[in-house]
Amino acid sequence: MTRRKFICGNWKMFKTGAEAAQLVRELRTRLSESGVQIAIAPPFTALESAHAALAGSHLQLYAQNCHFEKQGAFTGEIAAPMLEAISCHGVILGHSERRTLFAEDDALVNKKLRAVLDTRLAAIVCIGETLSEREANRTWEVVSRQVRGALSGISSEQLSRITLAYEPVWAIGTGRNATAAQAQEVHAQIRGLVRELYSAPAADAMRIQYGGSVKPENAAELLGQPDVDGALVGGASLKADDFARIIAGAKLTI
Ligand code: 13P
Repeated sequence: MTRRKFICGNWKMFKTGAEAAQLVRELRTRLSESGVQIAIAPPFTALESAHAALAGSHLQLYAQNCHFEKQGAFTGEIAAPMLEAISCHGVILGHSERRTLFAEDDALVNKKLRAVLDTRLAAIVCIGETLSEREANRTWEVVSRQVRGALSGISSEQLSRITLAYEPVWAIGTGRNATAAQAQEVHAQIRGLVRELYSAPAADAMRIQYGGSVKPENAAELLGQPDVDGALVGGASLKADDFARIIAGAKLTI
């Protein structure tokens, strides 16, 4: 089965609305229609201007987080139906920065995922081990717990709207990406777990992105691995040239 490559730029807490519109305009001059699915995930306050700037293009819009309730007295939070209402395509959930800096655990990620799937939105669910967990040979223990936790109670029909993103925490923003072999090893294990939890067709269809210091220089090698189906790109997605070159790297592997 050929899985369509999926590259998403996670802009984190960068770019105002005006800056986001400018970056989208720059991206549009560099990206041509291709077999690659491409998304950007600006901060909440830039979603609407990014949406306006990407109108008529094949770029999709993702948010970086949401709350698990549809509405309510949750000061400072944003609900999934609100994101749907401003034409987001999906939401990133369980990023390691949310897990470590904002105390999100597997149960909370699961609640958020259920809320997202109650709408028509898609989700990118992030998982990944810290350096000390890897050094203690606990990578698979941690990653498998995160995958099981996130997918608890999720049906095989809902699975088609989920992309998993393996992001080793030690590779995020450090310039030290996982080697292609390290990424492939964990991605293959994750796919095996999806097969065990669901079915072989579900596992074959599941897209698993790699994230952590993806750059133009390493994109083609990482994305050339059989179980690496895309990338979740942080820093390099903030520069139109770098992001376009990463996408060009993905195209080489199709
Ligand atoms: P960097 O690409 O900056 O390492 O960030 C990766 C990431 O966290 C994407 O979600």
